[in-house]
Amino acid sequence: DKGNHRHFMEKEIYEQPEVISHALSHYVDFASNRISDNVNAIDFKTASGLAISACGTAYLAGLVGKYWFERYARLSVEIDVASEFRYREMPLSPSQAALFISQSGETADTLASLRYCKDHGLKIGAVVNVKESTIARESDAVFPIMAGPEIGVASTKAFTCQLAVLASLALGAAKARGTISAEQETELVRHLAEMPRIMSRVLNLIQPQMETLSRELSKCRDVLYLGRGTSFPLAMEGALKLKEISYIHAEGYAAGELKHGPIALIDENMPVIVIAPFDRFFDKTVSNMQEVAARGGRIIFITDEAGAAASKLPTMATIVLPNVNEIIAPMIFSLPIQLLAYHTAVFMGTDVDQPRNLAKSVTVE
Ligand code: M6R
Repeated sequence: DKGNHRHFMEKEIYEQPEVISHALSHYVDFASNRISDNVNAIDFKTASGLAISACGTAYLAGLVGKYWFERYARLSVEIDVASEFRYREMPLSPSQAALFISQSGETADTLASLRYCKDHGLKIGAVVNVKESTIARESDAVFPIMAGPEIGVASTKAFTCQLAVLASLALGAAKARGTISAEQETELVRHLAEMPRIMSRVLNLIQPQMETLSRELSKCRDVLYLGRGTSFPLAMEGALKLKEISYIHAEGYAAGELKHGPIALIDENMPVIVIAPFDRFFDKTVSNMQEVAARGGRIIFITDEAGAAASKLPTMATIVLPNVNEIIAPMIFSLPIQLLAYHTAVFMGTDVDQPRNLAKSVTVE
């Protein structure tokens, strides 16, 4: 049932505040603002490293997770798309832990990567939406994302719930490894707890602007997305979402890679969507944006209040989100990305929930 939404995808986008709050309540104790002990169902404390494998959007969630595990838990992460991971013959040790991320829990390549790690004696954790799935059944520990059924082929709420769970796991790992203090933990958890409310506010705030902007996007043949840090996987997720449902060619790049190739594409016909919260990467990203502007590129700048105040560069549009803590920025910045892709596809009249050539669950190689 779509309720009063035109598509399942739209319904699922607007469900996010509610499902994320539900997901978080499983991993976080809001009364004490501490991470719950169940995140250490995988022994992150003694793990010598973490291997992560997944496909598509789940892989991009894992890539955001890599930044968190490395930064907060000082745990080095080896991550790859499952179709490569399964065949790379990478050396693994039983002292490492492994995480497999999958909405459906049935993706063939992800399952094969899981079995490869199992054969090498690693402890296996599954971040899945479907608790009865094969990937869940074959894992030592299951970390459900509690997003509820996701019908739209383009993943939205599963992505942000995967992020919320990965953030909790990374902070749980940090706590177990003693790499964050109790004060830092309560502070970060407090930010996680605020996230659902901020998401609701942002969804309402940006909706009209996303609709207007998508008219412009629908006229384009190519779109480039740029970001640094955790905004780099988000840039790739934005590009994936747009191409899946609107069939517009899009690419997501690390902003620092711009001058190593993609800058050759910049002209007035190709919008460049820059994702840049006011974090420690902000100035670097803005200088990349400057390079785009100097070549006549049209910029759609997705930033926060502090970022909007700090940059004086002319843009085609600036989407201003509230200032939020770094730990929740990837979830908050996912919202404009999802809505832009959604409205562009609606405007173009494509089959939003069932885009051509795609299946919701990829159970063959
Ligand atoms: O069920 P899974 O999470 O394992 O699926 C992985 C990908 O097939 C999936 O995320 C795909 O990329 C989505 N259509 C993206 O929107």
